[in-house]
Amino acid sequence: MFITRNMKMADAIHHNHLLLPVINRLGIQLGFGDLSIEQLCDEKGIDIDFFLMIVNAFLDHDINKTMKLDNVSVEQVVVYLKATHQYYLERMIPEVENRINALIQHSDIDQKQFLLVKNFFEEYKHEFYAHLKHEEQSIYPYVLEVNQANKIGKLEEDLLQKIQNEPIDSYAEEHTDIESKLFDLKNILIKYLPESKDSYLRNQVLNALFKLENDLNDHSRIENMVLVPMISVMENELLKSC
Ligand SMILES: [Fe+2]
Ligand SMILES: [Fe+2]
Repeated sequence: MFITRNMKMADAIHHNHLLLPVINRLGIQLGFGDLSIEQLCDEKGIDIDFFLMIVNAFLDHDINKTMKLDNVSVEQVVVYLKATHQYYLERMIPEVENRINALIQHSDIDQKQFLLVKNFFEEYKHEFYAHLKHEEQSIYPYVLEVNQANKIGKLEEDLLQKIQNEPIDSYAEEHTDIESKLFDLKNILIKYLPESKDSYLRNQVLNALFKLENDLNDHSRIENMVLVPMISVMENELLKSC
């Protein structure tokens, strides 16, 4: 289903509740009654076209079909990506951690069996944090700098050097896949831990991991298929102009 401006926001959420954190990050919180997406965006001062592109990209996964890059502002994309990082750090990662701890505390299986899960997740968390930090401290500032230079049509010497030495394509090539390790962790829980009498807590960990993986896939797609191509075009234009 394609989300449109006249659709009621509540209907979009009933269609796919995984949109909830996405609309939160875009500036909409629950309690919107029967308002349409357009009415809500107007009320909150949210760019409706950007909103529709992000939610449809999340649902459809084919960004080329849902996003017309000419209409997208780099600043908006970066604000959205940063809000997503914050949501991972403050909500999703602690949620997975809490569920792993509850599983270890209350399961009937020997606690030592779970050390593998806990250690695996600890390692993952370090890599995950390093990934986010690199993007926030290096990549996003660079992206905004290129965008600004492109807007004013002026390329300073230090930015020229950066474009020549570390263009956005080099980030794209090294952009590590932070979702694949989650797949391995899910498999430990699904396949390799011994059977227990009650799978409820294990399912809870798995649910949180599936949710995080799904959200991260969307996040990386926006970085790779929206941010990178936009900045790549700007870099080429700037290089041509000097
Ligand atoms: Fe990111
Ligand atoms: Fe990333």
